[in-house]
Amino acid sequence: MPILLALIILLIAAFLIWWLIFETEGVYLGRRAVIALYDLYAHRYDRIKQFDETADITLIGQPLLARVAPQSDPLILDVATGTARLPLVMARMARFDGHVIGIDASRLMLNKAREKIMSARFETFITLLRQDASALPFDDETFDVVTCLEALEFMPRPAQALAEMIRVLRPGGLLLTTIRIDTRWMPDRTFSEARMRTELEALGMRDIEIMIWQEDYSQVWAWKKGAAAPIGPPGLATVLDSTGQIPITYAG
Ligand SMILES: C[S@@+](CC[C@H](N)C(=O)[O-])C[C@H]1O[C@@H](n2cnc3c(N)ncnc32)[C@H](O)[C@@H]1O
Repeated sequence: MPILLALIILLIAAFLIWWLIFETEGVYLGRRAVIALYDLYAHRYDRIKQFDETADITLIGQPLLARVAPQSDPLILDVATGTARLPLVMARMARFDGHVIGIDASRLMLNKAREKIMSARFETFITLLRQDASALPFDDETFDVVTCLEALEFMPRPAQALAEMIRVLRPGGLLLTTIRIDTRWMPDRTFSEARMRTELEALGMRDIEIMIWQEDYSQVWAWKKGAAAPIGPPGLATVLDSTGQIPITYAG
């Protein structure tokens, strides 16, 4: 009997560890745990994810530029940029004349991002800042486009993070984010399609499109109501000055 009990306790402990660390990547252990885990896995992140560059260009870069056309030089904020997947997709597109500010809270994910940006010589298209997503250091209505891929569910308060992204988007600006399709293992963190629509509408977004993207995620595209002149790269210096932060430099 004691052996059986010990086995049951061991199994429950193993399940809890699997769920808390591997399946939900630390989200129920707090923000620091999430970032520590991303720091730990940063060197293996790209190998684990095996991103398909061509598919990303077709399913992220091209539709993004098509939606903002005729503007070809949007100033983009990529929240939770990781190893710079979206900034690099944009920089590789011949028609892209804009700039992407990528922010992330994980130092080691950003180090990987910096290595990749430098080796591709895309420094002029991308700036990286170490920054938490829950309180963005930017003025209201600063960006033409805000993106956040595969990350909302890792934020301590996903709805607040979404509100922050929309705050810094200019009227008439474009939002691209994602929702996890399988919501079984992350209660309270993931948005259903219906909840995402309700949240976005309440935050002043229009023309919301939700489409299956890859096995685990749907893409969510939406526009901020109203209209304002495009910002583009000329706004970059002002934006960076206003944060009072030194961007992660590409030198050395
Ligand atoms: C699954 S990765 C996605 C990275 C990238 N967007 C992509 O598509 O490859 C999630 C990222 O969210 C970042 N992250 C998690 N919580 C964060 C927070 N509160 N603020 C900023 N970044 C955060 C992690 O460091 C990690 O780089």
